Amino acid sequence: MANLLITGGAGFIGSHTCLALLLAGHRLVVLDNFANSRPEALRRVAELAALEPLQARGCGDWATADQRLLVHQGDVRARQDLDPLFAAEPIDGVLHFAGLKAVAESIAQPLAYWDVNVAGSVCLLQAMAAGGCRTLVFSSSATLYGHPEQVPIPEEAPIRPINPYGQTKAAVEQLLADVAASQPAWRIARLRYFNPVAAHPSGRLGEDPHGMPSNIFPLISQVAMGLRPVLEVFGSDWPTADGTGVRDYIHVMDLAEGHSATLALLLAEAPQLLTLNLGSGQGHSVLDLVNAFAAASGQPIPIRLSARRAGDSAASIADPGAAERRLGWRTRRGLAEICRDGWAWQQANPQGYGA
Ligand code: NAD
Ligand code: UD1
Repeated sequence: MANLLITGGAGFIGSHTCLALLLAGHRLVVLDNFANSRPEALRRVAELAALEPLQARGCGDWATADQRLLVHQGDVRARQDLDPLFAAEPIDGVLHFAGLKAVAESIAQPLAYWDVNVAGSVCLLQAMAAGGCRTLVFSSSATLYGHPEQVPIPEEAPIRPINPYGQTKAAVEQLLADVAASQPAWRIARLRYFNPVAAHPSGRLGEDPHGMPSNIFPLISQVAMGLRPVLEVFGSDWPTADGTGVRDYIHVMDLAEGHSATLALLLAEAPQLLTLNLGSGQGHSVLDLVNAFAAASGQPIPIRLSARRAGDSAASIADPGAAERRLGWRTRRGLAEICRDGWAWQQANPQGYGA
């Protein structure tokens, strides 16, 4: 059992990973400012891990009675929020999900992205160093690869981000390489996620985007639900089998289990800097996804073919071989399960956690 700090643990990927880590026996301290999430997600994590009842600790903070899950409202950019967490008890490792992730928003508000994603990571690393914790799993992204020259994409592919969001992920990856090189005690994993989608099969946890989603999966779910009239398909003239964009969609529970396996490796092996793609190695087109979701939901999904979206690539597919070799991990859930679980979440929570 490890004592772990999870930044951004109330978010989409963080909440599912918290559940996987609790089920693996770990004890968690979550820090989140709820900029893009709701406390309800963590209450449901506690419920799914059978950790109730909850006890208030003041200022919106709470814990489960057995102290296996502690939740603090706070900001990764604030040492006054971080330092007490390291002072209260030894932290064996940090999983750092907190960040901003919308590409279009990053183009409009680059300062916010550099501040939260880069300055927030610097602040966290400083607090870790001061608190004597040198084990970190970082949420990186396949967006680093920009327009890839080859698919499947190996980790050695050139890093060529094409928007401010990707630039901030590249900057933190470089920062982590510099930190790892500065002192051999650091155990750091940079995990490059492909396209995380779906939800916990219970329908209790899922993605709850604030405002208009930009990613395809929540949009398809909302069209199937009748909340939006039509899905716009961005480009039908890509050099792919059916002309629509191809992506490597990864079930969020597979991703969560990938984090659990990564942490186990970091804690078991000698200190190192590990860089891994987390994806399935399978590509699916927009039309594949629409058809699979229509089959899973039994609902019509009207589409409208439109122009390519600026910044998109034809295809992005992981070479997942390194993760398989190093972690003994691979995705287990395919497109039908992805759509089934995404639909269960959408149906049970048409307004997300806010209902
Ligand atoms: P999310 O927005 O659902 O979760 C991020 C969490 O961080 C939220 O709970 C948010 O409230 C919190 N947060 C934001 N700023 C914070 C701050 N200053 N201090 C403390 N907490 C803060 O996003 P997600 O999809 O779960 O993504 C998690 C991480 O994975 C992010 O770093 C993201 O860039 C990365 N990532 C996501 C995807 C994806 O498609 N979802 C793909 C690749 C990488
Ligand atoms: C996008 C971001 C990427 C980020 C990732 C996860 C861009 C250009 N890329 O990736 O940096 O890491 O989200 O947050 O924004 N599509 C439609 N109609 C829609 C929405 C999407 O046809 O309404 C298509 C896209 O053209 C693409 C596929 O669906 O082919 C997946 O899109 P999306 O879910 O936005 O993910 P990415 O573009 O891969």
